[in-house]
Amino acid sequence: MMVNIKVNGEEYKKDVEPRTLLATFIRDDLKLTGTHIGCDTTNCGACTVLMDGRAVKSCTVLAAQADGHEIETIENEKDADLKKIKESFVEENGLQCGFCTPGMIMTSLYMLRNNKKPDDDYIKSNLAGNLCRCTGYVSIINSIKKASEKINTEKVRVP
Ligand code: FES
Ligand code: FES
Repeated sequence: MMVNIKVNGEEYKKDVEPRTLLATFIRDDLKLTGTHIGCDTTNCGACTVLMDGRAVKSCTVLAAQADGHEIETIENEKDADLKKIKESFVEENGLQCGFCTPGMIMTSLYMLRNNKKPDDDYIKSNLAGNLCRCTGYVSIINSIKKASEKINTEKVRVP
């Protein structure tokens, strides 16, 4: 079946099998391998992308369900806030092996679009669907708070 999916601002029209997962479509058809597949069973969150602005686990969505919708992935160069979140994860050591990181960052983007100044409890509850086996989460929470500062500082700066 043909699907027409906008990914990071680009339209892609592709022939896919009806059973194709969005995660597989993104990685194999579009070669955007920043989206990771850690479990394939909706547990780890490594595959998180934004679909029409909402965080979704792309191993749980069929490519067919994304037909006509807009997807944002970790590769999106056009989003200034996403760039700041990536920088903050590097500066605050929010990653070790990095496997969970694309999903953590896309969940963070969703979180920070909905709450510009999240506190620890808000961050923890929003990260409930994203697992990290390395960091113990403290550095991830610090990364998100730093990203929040960067995003807010930029927005109040007078030209
Ligand atoms: S690969 Fe999708 S939740 Fe783990
Ligand atoms: S940095 Fe290794 S799983 Fe999170």
